Amino acid sequence: MNTSVVNKYPDFSKDISEIILTPEEIQRRVIELGEQISQDYYQKNPILVGVLKGVLIFMADLLRAITIPVEVDFMAISSYSQEARDKGLVRLVKDLETPIAGRHVLFVEDVVDTGLTLNYLLRTLQMRQPASLNVCTIFNKQKLRLIDIPIKYKGFDLPDRFIVGYGLDHREKYRNLPFVAMLKPQAFQKRDVSVQS
Ligand code: PRP
Repeated sequence: MNTSVVNKYPDFSKDISEIILTPEEIQRRVIELGEQISQDYYQKNPILVGVLKGVLIFMADLLRAITIPVEVDFMAISSYSQEARDKGLVRLVKDLETPIAGRHVLFVEDVVDTGLTLNYLLRTLQMRQPASLNVCTIFNKQKLRLIDIPIKYKGFDLPDRFIVGYGLDHREKYRNLPFVAMLKPQAFQKRDVSVQS
């Protein structure tokens, strides 16, 4: 494991078993995605739409890698229950502030797993009649997919393993790590114990 970057985060380093993507690897890919999007959306004044919270880090980096005029807006969702979520039912708790009819919308995600969340949100946005609606995700876990979603821009295909960092959390922790890592089993257990006590 590349320990130098982990050592900058002593409060987290003991929880981490393996670095999956380094900050440099992630940033290189984000720049490439930004260049591609800048070409494809030239003179289209696109609006980037994200769903909170995990996308926050990627969105900030992607915006700065895009070299054409671009707008940004966010949605927030809440699951009724895990059972409801498994069926793709989510509740919109924050809608967009920007009307998107006739606009070129790029939906930005941190990770697509089952595709259920994205499917629900894309259907919601499509009803507003945007000029175009495409998807950009930095991480993709194809093995978990339940619904086929066309993804136009993809950062990395990742195996079906629980990962944290670069926006991805475990119980709201680790989002601020600039790399993607796997946690040691005890990192899960420790938090389970502390939450229960
Ligand atoms: C993640 C991610 C997607 C969703 C993908 O959000 O940001 O919105 O899960 O999962 P799916 O493809 O199986 O539907 P999460 O619920 O972890 O919330 P967060 O962004 O606040 O961390």
